[in-house]
Amino acid sequence: MLYIGIDLGTSAVKLLLMDSLGKVQKVVSKEYPLYFPQPGWSEQDPEDWWTQTCEGMKELLADADRTQVAGISFGGQMHGLVILDEKDQVIRPAILWNDGRTEEECEYLNQVIGREKVSEYTANIAFAGFTAPKLLWLKKHEPENFRRIRKIMLPKDYLAYRLTGVHCTDVSDASGMLLFDVEHRRWSREMCDICGIREEQLAKCYESYEKVGCIRPEIAKTFDLPAQCIVAAGAGDNAAAAVGTGTVGDGACNISLGTSGTIFIASERFGVDPNNALHSFAHADGHYHLMGCMLSAASCNKWWMDDILQDSDYPGAQEEIERSGLGENQVFFLPYLMGERSPHNDPKARGTFIGMSMDTKRRDMTQAVLEGVAFALRDSLEVAVSLGISPERTKICGGGAKSKLWKRIIANVLNRKVDVVETEEGPAMGAAMLAAVAAGEFGSVEEAARKFVHVIDTVEPEPELVRKYNKRYLMFREIYPACKPVYEILAK
Ligand code: XUL
Repeated sequence: MLYIGIDLGTSAVKLLLMDSLGKVQKVVSKEYPLYFPQPGWSEQDPEDWWTQTCEGMKELLADADRTQVAGISFGGQMHGLVILDEKDQVIRPAILWNDGRTEEECEYLNQVIGREKVSEYTANIAFAGFTAPKLLWLKKHEPENFRRIRKIMLPKDYLAYRLTGVHCTDVSDASGMLLFDVEHRRWSREMCDICGIREEQLAKCYESYEKVGCIRPEIAKTFDLPAQCIVAAGAGDNAAAAVGTGTVGDGACNISLGTSGTIFIASERFGVDPNNALHSFAHADGHYHLMGCMLSAASCNKWWMDDILQDSDYPGAQEEIERSGLGENQVFFLPYLMGERSPHNDPKARGTFIGMSMDTKRRDMTQAVLEGVAFALRDSLEVAVSLGISPERTKICGGGAKSKLWKRIIANVLNRKVDVVETEEGPAMGAAMLAAVAAGEFGSVEEAARKFVHVIDTVEPEPELVRKYNKRYLMFREIYPACKPVYEILAK
């Protein structure tokens, strides 16, 4: 049998074809635009997601034995608000996970309704990218659009809807809406009331590995696929990536270096960070996880290389850094190009270089960008450690994980072993695995992970470098609090 995993990312949709042995047969990627209509806003057109997914499907299946395709599932950028009217037409562009427009709404939820209440209802507090504050924003700023909403969806769920005609979501992605009672895996009536919506405006919520339906007959015809090809609910991209890297079971950890950067710690039991700096979400394996999310990770390096240096030779730029100077950089970079989520929850924070002198070279700044992302990941890890959760090692995936140097920096800044798995296509691989579980190929997500995921390399921390980076991390920690008042002024 064959399974298709679709990872609906922020810059592109990635489609992966996997066989019953877990072997990846083909990967296809199709890009689409991202719009920043105002500073700090971030939107996409769901029609672009659909068109590019269809293009990708055609290419993916070009030489495949289509009769063998038994299931499709998804990993998707989380938190995005997609709204449909009574004819299931998209009402306005989707407002994405890295959109910072809802500061006022977050303040209302966290201060007026109160963090304690919001956390009691959902296990989380309001962050600017989450879905519920976006609904409140829409109610205030686009009341006509708000009035027309019949269904509220998340990005990947829009693809599931187009494939099956079913309005569905899954527990891991629903967790990031701030409308979901994570502990009990059901919608929160209280949060629906607070946001002025009815529960029937939300999609039906499934476990990630559950079948939501079969593809519609027109889809079967368009792609020449079997009519009984199932669609599984899938997961938010981080939970899907965790499945794809085998991050299931208590204490397992994964780092994703994509547009965003996340540190994901799986847990058998439900738990909440008392300060809510880490998100407490449902996992795609039927359990839970804690997660720290930074809004700009590999995207910082992309911005620095593509937009600022206008240099596409990423390995070339990193080669000379690899040779010397690790742990001794005088330059620091705060990677808050889109504001920051974990642990600062500050949409006004901005990217910041500090520490340059007349002898600073371009390579020091490139290195600072890579290190700044690693230090910011450590900020979230430190929160987990303060809760008594201290993973000994971590998996890694995402575009940034292709860089040998970046993995080495992360292993040393975090002082954790970094395990590299055979397939770096985290979310797309996880999505295909969820489809295989839903189709009955495996009894559980854990079983699929055990059979399919293989560690092929481990990057070990180097004691001398760990010591140097510890010292630099303590310096890095001082910079954000010092800059915060300036970010406030800049935002006025
Ligand atoms: C997680 C988050 C991001 C997006 C990126 O909370 O907002 O990782 O899912 O696609």
